Amino acid sequence: GAVRHRIRFNVEYMYREPDCHEHVVMGINGQFPGPTITAEAGDTLEILLTNKLSTEGTVIHWHGIRQYGTPWADGTAAISQCAIAPGETFNYTFTVDRPGTYFYHGHFGMQRAAGLYGSLIVNLPKGKKEPFHYDGEFNLLLSDWWHKSTHSQEVGLSSMPFRWINEPQSLLINGRGQYNCSLAASLIKTSLPQCKFRGNEQCAPQILHVDPNKTYRIRIASTTSLASLNLAIGDHKLVVVEADGNYVKPFIVDDIDIYSGESYSVLLTTNQDPKKNYWISVGVRGRPPNTPQGLTILNYKTISASVFPTSPPPITPQWDDYNRSKAFTYKILALKGTEQPPQHYDRRLFLLNTQNLVDGYTKWAINNVSLALPTTPYLGSIRFNVNGAFDPKSPPDNFSMDYDILKPPLNPNAKIGSGVYMFQFNQVVDVILQNANVMKGKNSEIHPWHLHGHDFWILGYGDGKFKQGDDSKFNLKNPPLRNTAVIFPHGWTALRFKADNPGVWAFHCHIEPHLHMGMGVIFAEAVQNVTSTIPRDAFACGILKKFLNKEHN
Ligand code: C2O
Ligand code: CU
Repeated sequence: GAVRHRIRFNVEYMYREPDCHEHVVMGINGQFPGPTITAEAGDTLEILLTNKLSTEGTVIHWHGIRQYGTPWADGTAAISQCAIAPGETFNYTFTVDRPGTYFYHGHFGMQRAAGLYGSLIVNLPKGKKEPFHYDGEFNLLLSDWWHKSTHSQEVGLSSMPFRWINEPQSLLINGRGQYNCSLAASLIKTSLPQCKFRGNEQCAPQILHVDPNKTYRIRIASTTSLASLNLAIGDHKLVVVEADGNYVKPFIVDDIDIYSGESYSVLLTTNQDPKKNYWISVGVRGRPPNTPQGLTILNYKTISASVFPTSPPPITPQWDDYNRSKAFTYKILALKGTEQPPQHYDRRLFLLNTQNLVDGYTKWAINNVSLALPTTPYLGSIRFNVNGAFDPKSPPDNFSMDYDILKPPLNPNAKIGSGVYMFQFNQVVDVILQNANVMKGKNSEIHPWHLHGHDFWILGYGDGKFKQGDDSKFNLKNPPLRNTAVIFPHGWTALRFKADNPGVWAFHCHIEPHLHMGMGVIFAEAVQNVTSTIPRDAFACGILKKFLNKEHN
């Protein structure tokens, strides 16, 4: 039967050597990444989160968990709750209703990039079987790491002139990476004094020990701040079987692309020479790479784990080979038996993604509005009907059809806003995410969009500008059900979801600096239908502080 897990999380800053260089990281209970939570579908998690940071608030978002009936536990500062003040404890209680590979992370300021994350694995209830077989499993949580503090990154992003964060110094696999130590170069038998692992260093790679001729499930999730990644295992094929907690039609690949906010399960069969070890490599795609590969080893237990692989690490596909990225992404389709999308929509939003200026500051905007979060969480202000907490006018449902997405904007100015898209209960909503050219030069970036509180069906992708009639090619038969979808440079992505979860949900680019620069929107769904009691400390801030004293004592 369903179990209730009581978990204590103390969020704190600590010294750590994630990539062999000492840095301050955000950790939980003295661990970085935070502890892995393992539960079974149907279980309830009760997480008592204490903020042990001395000078800033915090919250944690449970990425991929839909929070049916508990929208106040979504862990988004200024959206579902007030930031938890230093010294205070917040109780997140929610049900994990569906098996899958998930993770959790900070959702305030740039705390995710500071290291506030961990894995959340939901297994099938006992007695139930996955639609695929495996003998063992591993979990890889991928992230990117900077030597510049997130405080200084944040100040740079909000400064004039603008200072970009640049590329990460290291890629981390389960919080471990090697800066300035080419692990791979060791195979050329040069001695590399800067990387001498005895195995107990905080940055020593976590090795995957396997038996020959077995099948392993490898869970892979990306919580990168910026980097789009590609993962490969030397000489081995991967079979993709799960994406964002949903089963997909299995397909075989040499490597997978994974964008921030996504998760996958792949099956690996250990059918190669058992007298060798193999590299597992993670590299950057979608931006001119300036970060060495993240590496670890697949060790056949038949030999010692300290034997270096004889073949070089897999080469990450060229960063701007977008046709290759698209080919991978288009292969992801729902497994038979997955819930199909409604055949019609009630409302369709066209959201143009642009890089902008607001009073000279560099921002990202959606339909020319750059999101700035209010001081009172939306869930509280909408539920209790108080005016003045956010812009009362909804942002636009579409953008000018003569906007040229292939060129820098003629007028790059945008405005700051905190307005909300309001949906009625059970409305079927389509979102066409339209990518565009950046402010300078001919360029357009990748943006992985993540929706809280839901999965959506990805109905289609296309190059250029979405045109009338493009929806006749939508896949309504077996579109993948996911919570994160990428938009490719100068292209569009079409999503459909049902507004069946009363609450207020963020929908945003999962690249942390982009979100910080305003790249998101807020969806409010039938908030008057939120029946569960919202804990008072979830909304007792901003203008609701006073309201509370008046009406809620
Ligand atoms: Cu994983 Cu709103 O994010
Ligand atoms: Cu983005």
